[in-house]
Amino acid sequence: MCGIVGYIGTQQAAPLLIEGLSRLEHRGYDSAGVAVGGATGLRVAKKAGRVRDLGEGLPKRFSGKAGIGHTRWATHGPANDVNAHPHTDGKGLVAVVHNGIIDNAAALRAALSADGVELASDTDTEVLAHMVAASEQESLEDKVAEVLSRIEGTYGVAFLHADFPDRIVVARNGSPLLVGVGEKEMFVASDLAAVVRYTTTIAHLDDGEMATVTAGGFTTYRLDATGPAAIERRAQSVDIDPDAYEAGEHESFMLKEMYEQPAGAESVLRGRLDERFGTSHLGGLGLDARDLREIKRVKLLGCGSAYYVGQMGAALIEELARVPADAEAASEFRYRNPIIEPDTLYVAVSQSGETVDTLLAVQEIKRKGGRAIGVVNVVGSAIAREAGRGIYLHAGPEVAVASTKALTNMFLAFALLALQLGRVRDLSLAQGKELIAALNELPGQIQQILDTADAIEPIAQRIAAAESLFFIGRVRGFPVAREGAQKLKEISYRHAEAYQTSELKHGPLALITPELPTVAIVPDDELVERNVAALHEIAARGGPLVVVTHPGVDLGELEEGDCSRIEVPRSLRALDPILLTIPLQILAYQAAQALGLDIDKPRNLAKSVTVE
Ligand code: AGP
Repeated sequence: MCGIVGYIGTQQAAPLLIEGLSRLEHRGYDSAGVAVGGATGLRVAKKAGRVRDLGEGLPKRFSGKAGIGHTRWATHGPANDVNAHPHTDGKGLVAVVHNGIIDNAAALRAALSADGVELASDTDTEVLAHMVAASEQESLEDKVAEVLSRIEGTYGVAFLHADFPDRIVVARNGSPLLVGVGEKEMFVASDLAAVVRYTTTIAHLDDGEMATVTAGGFTTYRLDATGPAAIERRAQSVDIDPDAYEAGEHESFMLKEMYEQPAGAESVLRGRLDERFGTSHLGGLGLDARDLREIKRVKLLGCGSAYYVGQMGAALIEELARVPADAEAASEFRYRNPIIEPDTLYVAVSQSGETVDTLLAVQEIKRKGGRAIGVVNVVGSAIAREAGRGIYLHAGPEVAVASTKALTNMFLAFALLALQLGRVRDLSLAQGKELIAALNELPGQIQQILDTADAIEPIAQRIAAAESLFFIGRVRGFPVAREGAQKLKEISYRHAEAYQTSELKHGPLALITPELPTVAIVPDDELVERNVAALHEIAARGGPLVVVTHPGVDLGELEEGDCSRIEVPRSLRALDPILLTIPLQILAYQAAQALGLDIDKPRNLAKSVTVE
């Protein structure tokens, strides 16, 4: 949440900062701002709204070859110009941008006010600028270190100081920060996306580290109780195609990422399937056959869509490996003082690898001696590092706030895990081979569904016109319904509630009217007849239906009424949920499009939730 970019070198900083911010905008788009340091001191421009507006409105003389920028997702105070970052000391000495939350901000603000400081904004961040300006330490590094030692909470920060125009000082505690190395120029950023056009030589800071960045290089420090202590951290070349961060010919990142799913699915499976022994190879798991046999339970932890796909994964693991498995919202986990069992495998699921709720859940598990792995997309991210082992998703960068391709790869990663857990138990060689064959077919089947997008459009138009909807499913279809409702809510702002189909008649059926459509997940499984019976109960009360199902499922006279049908290809029953999910992505996308909404930047949200 929120994005930071910084530049110091031989070029004018402002255009590079604006360009970098536009690539970070998915991380927060309530306001944006930049500060540059030049011969005449610091200059700041900031504005509520989009980066584009900030760029267009920059004063003509906004020169400086060092600068910092920020795109904000509001935590403290409304999204207005004053609360936008960078924040300053009000005297042109210090400018700071900050990701994260300062927990003791209220006390620090009160102390500053008592000293006669006039605070301009409602933010937690502003205290940093005043405190650094007031510090009597000699170097900027010592000033920043002194101030950060008084901060409780999380931060990725970057400081400019008029008395030290040759440097940017950055620090990290809980919010990512990296240094990018160029030719006589250096970058800082919270995310590779901001700098990848200029450099792929990168050094990631760890929590508790600080760096001085000048045009000629960088120096890193550990923030010890006694102050900053120099440490060596080398920049490394990262293998990433800058085009992966572009929407290219697609009208949005979400559309691009939906269509990348077949290729993404191939990537997560590549090199991991062992056809001969009917199992999978997961090098990063660090669990041998004995360890795998000792696992008595699997608990998947994630937030939002990562939680819902975790529910799909739990059902899959239980069904294939016959190991009890369940999923829980990582955001609730540690608050119920969970019992951590030594023979449970805890699986932290996260696209970004930054979601703080999931990260804290992993820390809670480790603190209590539990065994956690990560199922993560972003290599080297906080959750991946905290877990220390796991399965990378290889989905490529996911920029759209609404997760699609990462979610699909999460499901496939669970299938690979289930295969391994199953093969050291009762899953036979023949069953293992059957699962592998079905997995190999999935990329093509996903493509087949994507190819039907045009046929889904009229249904999406109707959904866009509804104020409120139900999504229903049973057992392995229920998490699909939850994810479908989530996608629709997220990008089209329709009110969508997911229920177990079996629960409808225990209450929610009262809401069925001709104005409330129900999207029903009806795979051709052991529950198909019961599912269809429930659809009749809805139709009998005038409720319009959209049924996501398999070819050959007989909906009888329902199809003569207000009932649309979307079909997905059959797979193994255990793998059905991911194929049933794809049309729901399309449906949500097209509904949002019909409503003319900004699909990649939905209201109030941001990619990567790095605050509690
Ligand atoms: C997905 O469409 C949502 N934007 C959101 O629920 C997301 O899945 C959740 O915040 C978890 O993110 P993560 O996978 O990066 O941890």
